[in-house]
Amino acid sequence: MENSYLPENFERVLLSEEQIAEIVSTLAERINHDFQGRELLVVGILKGSFMFMSDLVKALKITCHIDFMSVSSYGNATQSSGRVNIVKDLSESVSGKDVLVIEDIIDSGITLDFIIRHILNKGAESVSLCTLLNKPHRRKKDVPVKYWGREIEDEFVVGYGMDYAEKFRNLPFIGILKEN
Ligand code: IMP
Ligand code: MG
Repeated sequence: MENSYLPENFERVLLSEEQIAEIVSTLAERINHDFQGRELLVVGILKGSFMFMSDLVKALKITCHIDFMSVSSYGNATQSSGRVNIVKDLSESVSGKDVLVIEDIIDSGITLDFIIRHILNKGAESVSLCTLLNKPHRRKKDVPVKYWGREIEDEFVVGYGMDYAEKFRNLPFIGILKEN
């Protein structure tokens, strides 16, 4: 943490770099075990998943294809608008493939519900979800999350890819902001 700036309304560190690394390695072990000998199309949901995805795929001992999707539903607020728009669609065909979708955090589930249906509609063989953080108490859509790193309470977190109004994505740890 020594090299990091802190947001002015910073409350506390939720997960340190070391704790994140441990979670990532545990998740990678499980995925390596479950998909042994198979190929995976790993789809990162931009922008929030970029750091997590990068660390996770380095620990995968599976042949991976990498793709990204970008959707919008949040604007700059901390509440989902309930509508999801595709900003950037997949660039690879998902037809017949085992797809692993990587998210930073699942909150209402609205984003992932939309993305799973989108990928299945395009003919994927299977879609599994991996998220670093999970806020199960805020769920509005029931999405089948196969892999998650940590369950958290209803707090707004930033860092390690996650933003508040597009800021703080570059923090190497995950922190909680004070409510204003
Ligand atoms: P959902 O559609 O409500 O599940 O929202 C998921 C998206 O909202 C995530 O991919 C994040 O980009 C964003 N999000 C949800 N909670 C937080 C948070 O605590 N900090 C930063 N972004 C969040
Ligand atoms: Mg996101």
